[in-house]
Amino acid sequence: MKISIINGSPKSGKSTSALLIDYLIPMLLGNEIHIHHLNMETGDHCQLSAMTDSDVLLFVFPLYVDALPSHLLRLLMALEKQNFQKKKPIVYCIVNNGFYEGKQNDLAIEQIKIWCHRTHLTWGQAIGIGAGEMLPYIASVPLGHGPNKNLGHALTLLTQNIKAGKGGEDLFISPHYPKWLWKMNASMFFWYPRAKANGLKRKALYQQADYTTL
Ligand SMILES: Cc1cc2nc3c(=O)[nH]c(=O)nc-3n(C[C@H](O)[C@H](O)[C@H](O)COP(=O)(O)O)c2cc1C
Repeated sequence: MKISIINGSPKSGKSTSALLIDYLIPMLLGNEIHIHHLNMETGDHCQLSAMTDSDVLLFVFPLYVDALPSHLLRLLMALEKQNFQKKKPIVYCIVNNGFYEGKQNDLAIEQIKIWCHRTHLTWGQAIGIGAGEMLPYIASVPLGHGPNKNLGHALTLLTQNIKAGKGGEDLFISPHYPKWLWKMNASMFFWYPRAKANGLKRKALYQQADYTTL
């Protein structure tokens, strides 16, 4: 089975989407896998014909403002024009977001479903993953264990369905890790050091804009 995996993160280096794809590859072993990177370096030079000639399209991307990153939207519009005359791939997606709750990704998943409907492709299944920025920090923890327990379970279900050519219920997950601890770690090890590096005090992070004067 020919599977096209589209990395929709614009980051050219490490990204959570790239990490998720690394997890998927061994789980999809035995299939012909093509990975397409839509990042800032490759721009729009992705192989549309290879994608339309696939049995499966798997979009892996970050949530941007409750929706799709704009370069992914551009790709979807270009793919739509290809008409998918040779094959009708089944479409799956994995969306990761910054907030803790994976449910935040449901609107972006709906957008991919609408695109499927427009292009007359079959919808498969989606996973919405919360606290995406945390995943690279726990990459040494095996899938299915500790904070990666929920992720391992969701990726197993998705890849089983892909291999069986089946659809499934959309899955929304967060790391198997308390939200309060995630929030504290994010502040201590990510946001505060980043504020300091940019010459800001901690309290500047809690300031709210006054839109009433606009
Ligand atoms: C422009 C922009 C918009 C974003 N919008 C959201 C959002 O609406 N909700 C959210 O939870 N995270 C949002 N994020 C956070 C990303 O979804 C998050 O950092 C994700 O883990 C990045 O994945 P990647 O490393 O695969 O690119 C946004 C990030 C950027 C840069």
